[in-house]
Amino acid sequence: MLLPRRSSPAPTRLLSLFLFLVLVVASAQQGHHHHPAGDGVVISQADYQGLQAIRHDLADPYGFLRTWNDTGLTACSGAWLGIKCVLGNVVAITLPWRGLGGSLSQRGLGQLTRLRRLSLHDNDIAGPIPASLGFLPDLRGLYLFNNRFSGAIPASIGGSYQLVFLSLAHNSLDGPIPESLTRLAKLQQLDLSANNLNGSIPPSLDNLTATLQSFNVSYNNLSGAVPPSLARKFGEPSFTGNIQLCGYSASTPCPASPSPAPSVPASPAEGESHGRRKFSTKELILIIAGIVIGVLVLLLLCCLLLCFLTRKKSSGSSTTTAADAAAGRGEKPGSGAAEVESGGDVGGKLVHFDGPLAFTADDLLCATAEIMGKSTYGTVYKATLEDGSLVAVKRLREKITKGHKEFEAEAAVLGRIRHPNLLALRAYYLGPKGEKLLVFDYMPKGSLSAFLHARPPNTPVDWATRMTIAKGTARGLAYLHDDMSIVHGNLTASNVLLDEQCNPKISDFGLSRLMTTAANSNVLAAAGALGYRAPELSKLKKANAKTDVYSLGVIILELLTGKSPADSTNGMDLPQWVASIVKEEWTSEVFDLELMRDAAAGTVGDELMDTLKLALHCVDPAPSVRPEAREVVRQLEQIRPGSDVGAGAGPSEEEGGGAHVPAGDDE
Ligand SMILES: *[C@@H]1O[C@H](CO)[C@@H](O)[C@H](O)[C@H]1NC(C)=O
Ligand SMILES: *[C@@H]1O[C@H](CO)[C@@H](O)[C@H](O)[C@H]1NC(C)=O
Ligand SMILES: *[C@@H]1O[C@H](CO)[C@@H](O)[C@H](O)[C@H]1NC(C)=O
Ligand SMILES: *[C@@H]1O[C@H](CO)[C@@H](O)[C@H](O)[C@H]1NC(C)=O
Ligand SMILES: *[C@@H]1O[C@H](CO)[C@@H](O)[C@H](O)[C@H]1NC(C)=O
Repeated sequence: MLLPRRSSPAPTRLLSLFLFLVLVVASAQQGHHHHPAGDGVVISQADYQGLQAIRHDLADPYGFLRTWNDTGLTACSGAWLGIKCVLGNVVAITLPWRGLGGSLSQRGLGQLTRLRRLSLHDNDIAGPIPASLGFLPDLRGLYLFNNRFSGAIPASIGGSYQLVFLSLAHNSLDGPIPESLTRLAKLQQLDLSANNLNGSIPPSLDNLTATLQSFNVSYNNLSGAVPPSLARKFGEPSFTGNIQLCGYSASTPCPASPSPAPSVPASPAEGESHGRRKFSTKELILIIAGIVIGVLVLLLLCCLLLCFLTRKKSSGSSTTTAADAAAGRGEKPGSGAAEVESGGDVGGKLVHFDGPLAFTADDLLCATAEIMGKSTYGTVYKATLEDGSLVAVKRLREKITKGHKEFEAEAAVLGRIRHPNLLALRAYYLGPKGEKLLVFDYMPKGSLSAFLHARPPNTPVDWATRMTIAKGTARGLAYLHDDMSIVHGNLTASNVLLDEQCNPKISDFGLSRLMTTAANSNVLAAAGALGYRAPELSKLKKANAKTDVYSLGVIILELLTGKSPADSTNGMDLPQWVASIVKEEWTSEVFDLELMRDAAAGTVGDELMDTLKLALHCVDPAPSVRPEAREVVRQLEQIRPGSDVGAGAGPSEEEGGGAHVPAGDDE
């Protein structure tokens, strides 16, 4: 495994190591030594026997498990490959891509009662999925895809009620989808694709529709009707490749007349009571018992309802907890619902804000990470979570961040900010030793700076795309100023990130609020060096809305000229250079040559000139002359009407190269 070479100047480098190790290496350099996977407690006897049994049944042609060799004293110290413990209990087994064969020990897994994550995907393991997995109450992630498991999915799996991620895709499993899956109330991702599963999709599975974020049963041998809510939420790509399955798209309607009721192995009480055949005494007793139990349950429910009503009366109607509020349906995005997960294998605290990402502290700390860049605030990683989703993780430098309490208060404010042109803060993590991680959406096209200046040859960026970027950036800034009363203070083309459709998202706003005053003055100095800094800042020392608009003006000039503000021309910065050329009335010389093609072809000539005037207005040396961000938005919309969101995908689509990193690649 590679370790980060700190002296390396290369900004982007595939480290392929666990983010967790990054943390450990960094803290070790500060003088604390702590083993990555262990807490110094010797493994429990039961867990040790469990691991031995698992090793015994696995085939290990490449010798990866040779480290599992001694009496177990080192099993929890990090010496055993792929094993993580908490307090002497194994909590994670992570051994994907190791060429492992053999089978998975039913007895061995049953011993690991505190297991949270079992990740053995992309191996060659055969035999059944052990039913004992269903008796692991802490299991959150089960990743067994891309193996050769066969037999049926054990119904016991419904007992692992903490399961969040379950992928058994690309095996040779047959039999039905067990109805017990409906008991997995926390399940967010279910992938059973590419097996030989048959029978129907249990109709009751639709009561997981609300929690499920991804669902895939494609390429099996399933039949019957898809539960409508699942069909609506996930659509054709999740069901395709099952010849006898119907009702998941317009082109696969179910036969209208007596629809063959999906034949789930039904409970005797329901399925057969209408049949003509006679009941045996045993069955009769069962039915009567069923009815008695049913009546009792009804009575109990009535009692509960009564209790509830009387309690509610006495306590009044004003008691809504934060958790209730967060669970509420009417919750608007960005209204501040945060979900706190304490713990994780290593302790610490993960706070989620609203958003589509689903991960636990363990997932985050075990993510495969690649350094994207470093700044005054800290290092940014691209992290690949086990389910393949990507997030950007910013590890803040501990010495320059505020103390815990203040930090959390400020982060809670930032986590509420939602705007299409502002990069959303999805979560933060506070480690047990003071590490602070911020989790953001990952932007596949990277920064505007790289997009404009580090392009492969022959990938011109047309005017429509540039205008989309200019407008979006202005909108994001206007929202920050007017609605959030936040001054960015460090707006640069490196802090404007682009999504798949080239919609810009401003990043790094508000981070100064998480930092000490000393750190903030450093950031200002750095911003000056990059050429985005308003001239009055040399005296002022404190950014304001007008200095932000200056930076916005520089970005628009950058879009118009294709020149980086970092490269000065004849000792002039970008605004000075543009102004000097305009003065000499060679105005068309300032524009990027690529744009002259657009200009020659059509009618954008006026748009270029008007945008140039506006940009020069923004970079006026006199702050009072500069327009407000809102005014810049208004004028840009006047110059080129239409909200061209998504219009910019155009000619440079191939730029998103970095987005296709395979999941789990942690070699
Ligand atoms: C156990 O494995 C470790 C790591 O591969 C190795 O250093 C050690 O010598 C092995 N011990 C035995 C007894 O084989
Ligand atoms: C879904 O319904 C089944 C019974 O049909 C029940 O056992 C299960 O607990 C339900 N799950 C959720 C998440 O409500
Ligand atoms: C599913 O396949 C098994 C054999 O693999 C078969 O015994 C069973 O009847 C099938 N069930 C359905 C509902 O087709
Ligand atoms: C799918 O199931 C049907 C019966 O339900 C069976 O005849 C067929 O052989 C199965 N196909 C595969 C590929 O297993
Ligand atoms: C579902 O799984 C199949 C096979 O693994 C895959 O090709 C397909 O892209 C997946 N669909 C979705 C929506 O993830």
